[in-house]
Amino acid sequence: MGDNPYLAHLPPHLRGTRGSTASSRPADPLHGFMPRKVKAPQVTRAMDGDINPFTKRPFSSGYKKLLERRKRLPVFSQMSEFYEMFNSNQIMILVGEPGSGKSTQIPQFIAYSDLPHVKGKRIACTQPWRVAAMTVAKRVANEMDVTLGKEVGYAVRFEEMMEPGATFLSYLTDEILLREAINDPRLAQYSTIILDEAHERTLATDVLMALLKDVARKREDLKIVVMSATLDALKFQNYFSEGKRKAPLLKVSGRTFPVETLYIREPEPDYVEAVIRTVLMIHQAEDEGDILVFLTGEEEIEDACKRIKKEADDLIDNMPDSVGPLICIPLHSSLPPSQQQMIFCKAPAPRSRGGPPGRKVVVAMDVAETSLTIDGVVYVVDSGLSKQKVYNPRIRVESLLAAPISKASAQQRAGRAGRTKPGKCFRLYTENVFINELEEQTYPEILRSNLASTVLALIKLGITDILHFDYMDTPPPESIMRALELLNYLAAIDDEGNLTPLGGIMAEFPLDPQLSKTLIISPEFKCSNEILTIVSMLSVPSVFMRPKNNQKKDAEAAKALLTVPDGDHLTLLNVFNSYQQNKNDPNWAWNNYLSGRALSQADNFRTQLQRIMERFDLDLVSSTDQRTFYVNIRKALVCGFFMQIAHKEDEKNNYLTVKDNQIVALHPSCGLDTNPEWVVFNEFVLTSRPWIRTVSEVRPEWLLEFAPVYFDVASFQNGETKRALQRVIAKKTGVAMPPEKKKGKDRKEHKGGRK
Ligand code: CDP
Repeated sequence: MGDNPYLAHLPPHLRGTRGSTASSRPADPLHGFMPRKVKAPQVTRAMDGDINPFTKRPFSSGYKKLLERRKRLPVFSQMSEFYEMFNSNQIMILVGEPGSGKSTQIPQFIAYSDLPHVKGKRIACTQPWRVAAMTVAKRVANEMDVTLGKEVGYAVRFEEMMEPGATFLSYLTDEILLREAINDPRLAQYSTIILDEAHERTLATDVLMALLKDVARKREDLKIVVMSATLDALKFQNYFSEGKRKAPLLKVSGRTFPVETLYIREPEPDYVEAVIRTVLMIHQAEDEGDILVFLTGEEEIEDACKRIKKEADDLIDNMPDSVGPLICIPLHSSLPPSQQQMIFCKAPAPRSRGGPPGRKVVVAMDVAETSLTIDGVVYVVDSGLSKQKVYNPRIRVESLLAAPISKASAQQRAGRAGRTKPGKCFRLYTENVFINELEEQTYPEILRSNLASTVLALIKLGITDILHFDYMDTPPPESIMRALELLNYLAAIDDEGNLTPLGGIMAEFPLDPQLSKTLIISPEFKCSNEILTIVSMLSVPSVFMRPKNNQKKDAEAAKALLTVPDGDHLTLLNVFNSYQQNKNDPNWAWNNYLSGRALSQADNFRTQLQRIMERFDLDLVSSTDQRTFYVNIRKALVCGFFMQIAHKEDEKNNYLTVKDNQIVALHPSCGLDTNPEWVVFNEFVLTSRPWIRTVSEVRPEWLLEFAPVYFDVASFQNGETKRALQRVIAKKTGVAMPPEKKKGKDRKEHKGGRK
């Protein structure tokens, strides 16, 4: 025991020394517990006891009931094996079917071993999806009979439920833990870090794996558990190997039932329509059992839910004796907490007396593939698609597109139907597509993402050779080069790749570098209060609601009243300010077709960003000069977004993105009342055609003034954009520009770019 660094600071009764504990604390449920030496029978006894060891209060009857259910989870029957492996290894891998109890039980097992509540430490469990982090934390707080936000908490972007000093188990999104690592590279407050859903291979989890490997070498006391739902654990075992010794693997054996897979014969032109038809067909023709539907985006999910509900109601009205009641629940990442619990609600849908069974339909995005297990599902309807990030480093565009899933994902989706009894999976694609067109595995996100934030974070963490960092899968060098180039233009790193003081502050903000740059520069333009608001509004889901039915016109009229014709960024500012002014009216957002939830997220995020501004003594100022008020805001935007400028090309109102030369149009949501010659845009979106969204007018003189290196005309291809810039220069200097000008090596960016 003396060689265990973890025990040194514990009070004697918790070091497990016989005699010293027996008489002094006879009632302690953790009596005899030696941290990281505990055995399953001890823990089961404590769990079966009457006193909650984490609160010292008697367990409630609800706890006992939940405990009985927990004991039936596959993970529970392998508790002994778990402790053997956990206690004697610093890093371990754990795989098990979704629903086997990994996310909910393993952190609790570890709490009985680490005893973080007496050690002043924390256990972290990461989740790729915010809705999973929130719901699992709530579930675990219930199971442990403690308060959510106190002993067990969560932290996701825009929302946090934790109490410093009290929270000893926290569920965090992987992105939040990565942010914490930037502030505290040793992650000193944690005793164990669990990376859950590692098979999802999100960008943040991949980077965390690499960082944690390194931290583990420096901190003997830190334990790491990597959990995955798929069986190809070998990659993780090899990645975390020590010399020739692979990281140990614990396989949790789950029990699953056969799932019959049905394909469509001909491709479906409209998959949402096909989903709705299939759900109603199952509801009318199949035996009892809930339905899980996989669609792609939030709006699509909400819309499908409404349509399913309406059509089911019509059916019931027409055939009350042969169709049972149906409830339809959406599941996506921005679901308000009040609705999240409904997904897990165990009560069956209401029954019409003596009539056919009721049914629950959950319409979900890929979070339900492995991260959240919904009991009672017997039928799966798989659209075959999910929203996926795609990055084109050549034109620096990252888009979220509905794209075909991999075979591995399709298998996971089907598996959700066979949890409690034999089930059926309806694939809304042909068997030929499944066999010949779907990729085997989902591509790790790091291979298809814009890496600007990640690279900045790595540089901040002192990693100098970004290209040869210890990635599980090395990202394309072009993506890394693009990230370095952007950071250099933004003056976050110098020409040698070293972090500048500005870059050091930028890395502290949980934002894309363009946004953090705009924010940091904004006091110089006397508009930091306004930019704080705009940046927050740009970071949350869209605040504008878009009803499809007869309310569409009303919604558009409400938006028009809040629109500022000079630019969408200014409209966002106006919306937020109006929201603040009307805070006393609970119906204001609703009446104006705005999402109250997105607005309050923006409000929270603004406060969070403001705190970071204050930490770095960045002034919070507003201009009182009405003439320059809007101009200054747009100037500040140019300083961060000078690489996202488009120039009007022709009378058809096509725009050309500067340097990347993509033909784009202003998105239909754009509120500009004219088609200005130069615009700054927040986003490139590719749907029916390439659009630029959230757009404001800018002046070309600002581009030349604030980003002279990027806007060095000599570096432009011949074309209308170049000619337009030359005209501006000629007007300013009074001298016509020669067609080509040599790039001056000694020219320095100031506000906008390289220093
Ligand atoms: O992590 P893994 O997929 O292995 O399983 P889990 O998330 O720990 O889920 C274990 C059980 O807890 C499942 O039966 C879930 O349905 C249930 N659960 C729940 O009822 N409510 C939640 N918020 C989360 C899980």
